[in-house]
Amino acid sequence: MTRILLSGCGRMGKLVADEAANFENLKTVYGVDSFLPDGLPFPVVADFESVDVPFDVIVDYSNPANFDSLLHFALAQKKPLVLCTTGLNEEMRQKVFAAAKEIPIFYSANMSLGIYVLTAVAKAASKMLGPGFDIEVQEAHHRNKVDAPSGTALQIAEALLQERDDLNTIVTDRYSSRQKRGNDEIGVSSLRGGSIPGQHTVTFAGPDEVIELTHTAYSPRVFATGALRAAAFLKDQAPGIYDMSHLLGL
Ligand SMILES: NC(=O)c1ccc[n+]([C@@H]2O[C@H](COP(=O)([O-])OP(=O)(O)OC[C@H]3O[C@@H](n4cnc5c(N)ncnc54)[C@H](O)[C@@H]3O)[C@@H](O)[C@H]2O)c1
Repeated sequence: MTRILLSGCGRMGKLVADEAANFENLKTVYGVDSFLPDGLPFPVVADFESVDVPFDVIVDYSNPANFDSLLHFALAQKKPLVLCTTGLNEEMRQKVFAAAKEIPIFYSANMSLGIYVLTAVAKAASKMLGPGFDIEVQEAHHRNKVDAPSGTALQIAEALLQERDDLNTIVTDRYSSRQKRGNDEIGVSSLRGGSIPGQHTVTFAGPDEVIELTHTAYSPRVFATGALRAAAFLKDQAPGIYDMSHLLGL
C-alpha cells in the first residue's frame, strides 16, 4: 500500500483523495492545508511540522506560497514528491531541479495523458510545417484559476521552442508592446470564465491555411487520476526529475 500525504486539500486535493478509492494500492492518510478544510476522511493539519504519521509519497496541489515549506519538508523527510501546483517562478523551478538530486520529483504542469500527446503531436507538426507557420498557444480555464497563462500553456510553448532553432521567445502580452508579430516567437494567450476545467489549443497559422490541435479536459478528475498514477510510479524511483514520458516508459 502506498500511503499519500496530500499537500493542499482544496478542489484538486479533494478529488485526489476521492479518486484514490479507485486504486487498490493507494490511500490518502493525511493532509496539510493552512485553511484546515472540514469533512475529509483523514486528518488535516495546518503545517508540515505537525505531520506525525508515516507516509510514502507527497502529492501537492496547493499554491506557490506553500512551495518553500513543501520542498524543505520533502527533502528533510527524503520522500518522493508529485508536484502539481502551477505558477512556480524561475527561482522555484531551479530549486525543484536542485532538490531532484536528492529525492524523486514528478513535475508537470499538466497531469493528463492527453496533454502529453498533444505536445508530442504539436512538436512533430512544428517540425514538418517549419518557419512559414506562426505558432500560437491559447488556453481557457475556470474563473477561479489564479495564474495566467496556465502552466500547461507555457509548458507546451517551451517544448515547441526547444524543438526548433528559429524559435526564440514566448510572448504572453501583446497589449503593451504594440508591435508586429516576430518570426521567432510563440504567442500564448488566456481566457478565464465559468467552470471550464481546461482547454489548450496549438494553432499553426500559415499563408492561406491554419491547423489547430486542441485538448479539452471535461473534468478535473483527469488530473487527479494522473497524480495518483504518478504517485504509485514515483514511490520506487531513484532521485531525479520525472514526467509523463517516464510514467509511460517512452
Ligand atoms: N498539474 C496539473 O495537472 C494541475 C491540474 C489542476 C490544477 N493544478 C494546480 O494545482 C494548484 C491547486 O489547484 P486547486 O484548484 O486545487 O486550488 P484550490 O485553491 O482549490 O486549492 C489549493 C489549496 O491549497 C491550500 N493552500 C494555499 N496556500 C497554502 C499554503 N501557503 N500552505 C498550505 N496550504 C495552502 C488552500 O487552502 C487550498 O485548500 C493550482 O496551482 C493549480 O493551478 C495543476
